[in-house]
Amino acid sequence: MAQQVQGVVARAKGEPVAIETIVVPDPGPGEAVVRVQACGVCHTDLHYREGGINDDFPFLLGHEAAGVVESVGDGVTEVAPGDFVILNWRAVCGQCRACLRGRPQYCFDTHNAKQKMTLLDGTELSPALGIGAFAEKTLVAAGQCTKVDPAASPAAAGLLGCGVMAGIGAAINTGNVGRGDSVAVIGCGGVGNAAVVGARLAGAAKIIAVDIDDKKLETAKSLGATHTVNSRSADPIEAVRELTGGHGADVVIEAVGRPETYEQAFYARDLAGTVVLVGVPTPDMRIDLPLLDVFGRGGALKSSWYGDCLPSRDFPMLIDLYQQGRLDLDAFVTETIALTDVEKAFERMHHGDVLRSVVVF
Ligand code: APR
Ligand code: ZN
Ligand code: ZN
Repeated sequence: MAQQVQGVVARAKGEPVAIETIVVPDPGPGEAVVRVQACGVCHTDLHYREGGINDDFPFLLGHEAAGVVESVGDGVTEVAPGDFVILNWRAVCGQCRACLRGRPQYCFDTHNAKQKMTLLDGTELSPALGIGAFAEKTLVAAGQCTKVDPAASPAAAGLLGCGVMAGIGAAINTGNVGRGDSVAVIGCGGVGNAAVVGARLAGAAKIIAVDIDDKKLETAKSLGATHTVNSRSADPIEAVRELTGGHGADVVIEAVGRPETYEQAFYARDLAGTVVLVGVPTPDMRIDLPLLDVFGRGGALKSSWYGDCLPSRDFPMLIDLYQQGRLDLDAFVTETIALTDVEKAFERMHHGDVLRSVVVF
């Protein structure tokens, strides 16, 4: 039987979100209903509310979540009721060219639940990133659920569903950071600081954090950055070169999404080094680089989408490292809040004083 639960809904562009009663159908074939235990507040949720993603209002927000599978539909073999899972944005098809070539991260036939959750009057909701987890329960495709160690804290586990995974993955998957490497991270918000943590996990010897905000640099230091550079007071390209014996870093991770920081990333890398772009630019942004520099510096210029993560491989592995005390996910949980406080959390995020506010149920 369909259930009624409370959820955070954005009804119209730019308007504050509100708690609404939503209707969650029973899972159909290939679907699962998950009892959400924790869901982080991410910039993308705010972006949905502001109409920056698309106009498919009303949105059911929330997408960095962990919880327990309550029920599954016909044909579901991936998970069973009672499993503790982290949710990801999209189930992959397993059949397309990308999937068959072993790159399901780039699957072009991904899917979410087929049925829709609705408001009480029957209006269909658009779940943020196909999840919609600022709700006591949510309906997803079973392939969006990845089973992990149930002893892990839900607030920490949920973070792997989005921003923290994007940052860690940028370092360990896309950047392929290796033991002894020097790594520079430009922009140390939630994503950049997760890249710092990823670089440390991968065994980087030098981790240079760059930001314009000293508070963020302090956090980066506490998470494993060996050096910090405030790029308001020092030229970050010069500073990174100086800190790497005049060479530049083996891997530079850009986690801001602005032309000037893309350019800094490009020039802060060593010859034949790798630049990883995680910051998402807006459609109007351009950079203008001499082709001879692109050619002459060698190396790789890569973009990292969702940290090039493979949930089935990366979520359980990172949760195991967390459980062993080798990956401090708790450091990213600045505060835990109630479902009613999402709007307040957006405000705090705007002021840049939290890594993550996490709704716990
Ligand atoms: N140089 C260096 N750092 C900067 C600059 C700059 N010119 N401008 C902003 N920053 C810093 C901010 O001080 C902040 O610490 O970049 C950081 C951005 O962090 P958040 O706003 O918390 O954003 P985050 O969630 O980390 O996402 C960063 O990655 O996935 C993408 O869409 C996301 O583009 C965004 C980026
Ligand atoms: Zn997110
Ligand atoms: Zn596919």
